[in-house]
Amino acid sequence: MSSLVDGRIAPHGGTLVNRLVQADLLEYAHLPALELSERSSADLELIATGVYSPLEGFLGEVDYHSVVETLRLANGLPWSIPITLGVSQDQAKNYRDTVRLTKNGETVGLLEVCEQYQPDKQKEALEVYRTTDPAHPGVAALLAQGEINLAGRVSLLELSRGEFSAHHRTPQETRTQFDHLGWHSVVAFQTRNPIHRAHEYLHKVALEQIDGLFLNPLVGATKSDDVPAEVRMRAYEVLLERYYPKGRVLLGVYPAAMRYAGPREAILHALSRKNYGCTHFIVGRDHAGVGSYYGSYAAQEIFSVFTAEEIGIEILKFEHTFYCKHCGSIVSSRTCPHDGTQHLILSGSKVRELLRAGSSLPAEFTRPEVAEVLREAYQGAVS
Ligand code: ADX
Repeated sequence: MSSLVDGRIAPHGGTLVNRLVQADLLEYAHLPALELSERSSADLELIATGVYSPLEGFLGEVDYHSVVETLRLANGLPWSIPITLGVSQDQAKNYRDTVRLTKNGETVGLLEVCEQYQPDKQKEALEVYRTTDPAHPGVAALLAQGEINLAGRVSLLELSRGEFSAHHRTPQETRTQFDHLGWHSVVAFQTRNPIHRAHEYLHKVALEQIDGLFLNPLVGATKSDDVPAEVRMRAYEVLLERYYPKGRVLLGVYPAAMRYAGPREAILHALSRKNYGCTHFIVGRDHAGVGSYYGSYAAQEIFSVFTAEEIGIEILKFEHTFYCKHCGSIVSSRTCPHDGTQHLILSGSKVRELLRAGSSLPAEFTRPEVAEVLREAYQGAVS
């Protein structure tokens, strides 16, 4: 069993980072300003609120190479994706000391620049994304970043709760909430898709054993053809209301950008959820994958690089699950004896195609209430 802090699972590295700082913004008005991308401003929040504990800032060069090459920070702790802040060569000249970080022109934080270095993007792409293909959305975002990384500790001066404020919680807050709910064990579920019956099945299998479910949809930047976060949030609310027992589920947003790094991202997702105070994390088929860059179970296999103690949150691995007409239920190859003719399997792109055509999704695939939310959203978008 992993170590505990105040009766809850210990954050990664032992201490929950808190870089939220109350300050008079006028004090910093004279500092050079750096406008953050949507992705970097999400990273700033995730670092400052402790979701990315033990990181206190954007990675320096030694940690950067260590993470890319060894899946560990220089101190040996598992870490899978370099969290970096890239700027252009020209911009870098202005950012030698403390920098004011802005979002839409408003000051949101500070970066104490302690180092500037040139990342090796080709190596990073190959190691982290397992491809240098610029068509991969994570690689494309990496290539679009500036060619100089600024490293240093950050402070967040203003925590914006965003459009999903009712469901926005910091790790400190989720930990307190889990205590209030009386949950000792908590299983986290990462998702960037509308909830389908297969997802629901994974949740409910887990809830047979575990006290509570932290449904933690990613609401940061996603690729343009993913279902928008506000539509997904409506679908989650409808589903929870109709099909989940009260008091067993907490819906909370994960304000990160999606990197589509498959196995490497599964580790980041698991460590983030440990920091939220969860004891278990679901990793199913092609977790955080895109296209056919990763094997179906690569995101499960990668955890064998570490000991269970090093990761600290228990990984619940699931096979590909789907509806079987003969069984009349959601199954996997571990539980169903029937052949493919009995199985209803729809890919994400097929689902989007059906929605764009105005067709309804089969009830065996998506609950009717969820299908209706999706249909309305897509009809609104195309009409
Ligand atoms: S992800 O990019 O966030 O991983 P998605 O929202 O589709 O995408 O998946 C959320 C979680 O459910 C992931 O752990 C994924 O592996 C798992 N999952 C999704 N669909 C299935 C399925 N049909 N069978 C098993 N696991 C699944």
